[in-house]
Amino acid sequence: MLPASAGHRWRSRFLMRWQEACLLGCWLSLCAAESFFACPSSCKCNSGNLEVDCSGLGLSSIPSDIPTNTRTFLFLNNKLSILPGAVFSNLSALQRLDLSNNFLDQLPQNIFSDLGNLTELQLRNNSIRALDKDLLQHTALLRQLDLSINGLAQIPSGIFDDLPALRSLSLRSNRLQSLDRVTFEPLTSLQHLQVGDNPWECDCNLRDFKHWMEWFSYRGGKIDQLACTLPKELKGKDMRMVPMEMFNYCSQLDDENSSTVLDNTGPPCTKGSPAPSKSKSGPETEVEPSVGCPQKQRYRPVSVRRAIGTVIIAGVVCGIVCIMMVVAAAYGCIYASLMAKYHRELKKRQPLMGDTEGEHEEQKQISSVA
Ligand SMILES: *[C@@H]1O[C@H](CO)[C@@H](O)[C@H](O)[C@H]1NC(C)=O
Ligand SMILES: *[C@@H]1O[C@H](CO)[C@@H](O)[C@H](O)[C@H]1NC(C)=O
Ligand SMILES: *[C@@H]1O[C@H](CO)[C@@H](O)[C@H](O)[C@H]1NC(C)=O
Ligand SMILES: *[C@@H]1O[C@H](CO)[C@@H](O)[C@H](O)[C@H]1NC(C)=O
Repeated sequence: MLPASAGHRWRSRFLMRWQEACLLGCWLSLCAAESFFACPSSCKCNSGNLEVDCSGLGLSSIPSDIPTNTRTFLFLNNKLSILPGAVFSNLSALQRLDLSNNFLDQLPQNIFSDLGNLTELQLRNNSIRALDKDLLQHTALLRQLDLSINGLAQIPSGIFDDLPALRSLSLRSNRLQSLDRVTFEPLTSLQHLQVGDNPWECDCNLRDFKHWMEWFSYRGGKIDQLACTLPKELKGKDMRMVPMEMFNYCSQLDDENSSTVLDNTGPPCTKGSPAPSKSKSGPETEVEPSVGCPQKQRYRPVSVRRAIGTVIIAGVVCGIVCIMMVVAAAYGCIYASLMAKYHRELKKRQPLMGDTEGEHEEQKQISSVA
């Protein structure tokens, strides 16, 4: 019995030691993790998913001691208005960056150029008025970009050229009046686009973007309402519901522009006019300029205006004639009914007063003269 119980004791002691060693090891590794992921003072950190949260602290600058392996950096609801150019240069592991609800009005061109792992960028509710065309050149993994509630009046073409993975883009609540189709064509993975609450001008400049939106919807993309602000006739209408025929006049404007260009620059036909038609119809290019130029110089809108003028004059003349005819008809009707009444009364009176025929005939004559 004794050796067996001694063996048992020895085994249990060994187990306890082993547990202690294990605990110590765990504690040491935890310590190591903590020191490896040192939280900036006053921020909250989660070393499990490598998240640093410095939201709502009234900060006006980004802390300089953010751990370099940080994956998520949250900096919402602060007072950030200026970003130094290299502020994120040590954070190449960053995947989520949220700078929403700050006062940023400008972003240095290279600010995100070291964030090659970035998949989500939130810039909601700042005061950004302009974006550099090269701002997102090195963030090829970006999937989500929120630029809503800013002061953007333009999206520079080329800014989305290097975002093949972008799935969600918000441009809500900015000052955009128009968008260029070419800017959006590189976004081959885009699925959600928000463009609402902008002062859209639904004119010729937006026509090509309307084409793109139709193609985007056809491809299965989701887009919110693009409600027109101008022109007045389309105010509040969704641009996608405006029939394409409304923009037929745009090609006339193109003609007008090219013809005014022709008028301004001396020898016209060789330079300005047939560039678009050349690319389409190959062999006829030699002949077309000589035929096409005089046609363009005919200046279509004047003839259109003349035609409209003619229609208006014809309408006015027709209207006057119609009114005259109606008046004449009404006059005739009244006259006829008066006469009929008069004759009826005459007939009633005739048997009573025999000798007044002469008078009646005189009256008849007077009224017929009248
Ligand atoms: C980036 O890291 C280097 C070396 O650790 C350091 O000298 C530099 O100040 C850091 N830059 C920023 C913006 O924190
Ligand atoms: C935008 O940010 C400001 C201050 O940062 C805040 O007061 C306001 O409520 C925010 N607006 C929205 C719509 O989030
Ligand atoms: C992505 O993050 C890893 C570390 O997690 C880093 O080694 C790598 O350089 C980053 N990639 C880019 C393109 O910055
Ligand atoms: C025509 O030219 C004017 C300026 O000359 C320009 O503002 C307008 O956008 C042009 N229209 C078209 C349809 O190209």
